[in-house]
Amino acid sequence: MTSLVIPKVIGHRGAKAYAPENTLASIHAAADIGVEWVEVDVKLTKDSVAIIFHDEELERCTGAQGLVKDFTLEQIRELDAGSWYGESFIGEKIPTLEELLNTVLERGMGVNLEIKPCPGREVETAEVMLDMATRIWPDDRPPPLVSSFQHVSLETALDMMPEWPRGFLLEEHIGNWKEIADYIKAATININGNKITREELEEYMEYGKPILAYTINQPDKARELLRWGVDSFFADNPDVILEAVETKH
Ligand code: G3P
Ligand code: MG
Repeated sequence: MTSLVIPKVIGHRGAKAYAPENTLASIHAAADIGVEWVEVDVKLTKDSVAIIFHDEELERCTGAQGLVKDFTLEQIRELDAGSWYGESFIGEKIPTLEELLNTVLERGMGVNLEIKPCPGREVETAEVMLDMATRIWPDDRPPPLVSSFQHVSLETALDMMPEWPRGFLLEEHIGNWKEIADYIKAATININGNKITREELEEYMEYGKPILAYTINQPDKARELLRWGVDSFFADNPDVILEAVETKH
């Protein structure tokens, strides 16, 4: 197994503070400011194609009415995923996973693929995602980190591609987290950095795996969590957070 090297800061949904989230423009924005890794959200179209999108509903990021799960890829491709963000992004599309991975590779970055299934598609989303990603991703590059809030998606990832590290995403502290982390053989613990208490963090640290905190956009918060023991951060403004955690204060 390749040893896990995760950078201090990962661009959240690309670089969400500078370009429409989860688009290729967002990946390029992250690359342009020197970000080493990006995180994106993966779900399926109605016809089971893996695309990069966060919400179940299309409206916030495209203005369209309806649910992602009810739109085919052809219909999804007609939508504009950039104009809601700003005029210079008009015409930006929702990318397929294939396009996303090729862009990440072209720009020499690493990636955290978050499996974000529509309800009921937890296994299928993981399967389609890993099928595509394992075909595209070269063996000589550090493998993607595969994360999810959905335990069954992580279980599927473990079955299909045990060599690729899994990030166990936690929305809040739960009593049986260690059992689940053991079961899915978690390589990282990905916590909500804006909710966690120091005591909870100490419990996670005892587990001995890297701790990644989402979504941290405030330099002071990043420095506090770094002092507490967090290893890496997801940030919409990854350049700002990188500067904050690399500078001594
Ligand atoms: O993977 C970190 C973070 O992206 C999890 O939350 O809702 O932004 O996908 P969310
Ligand atoms: Mg995410």
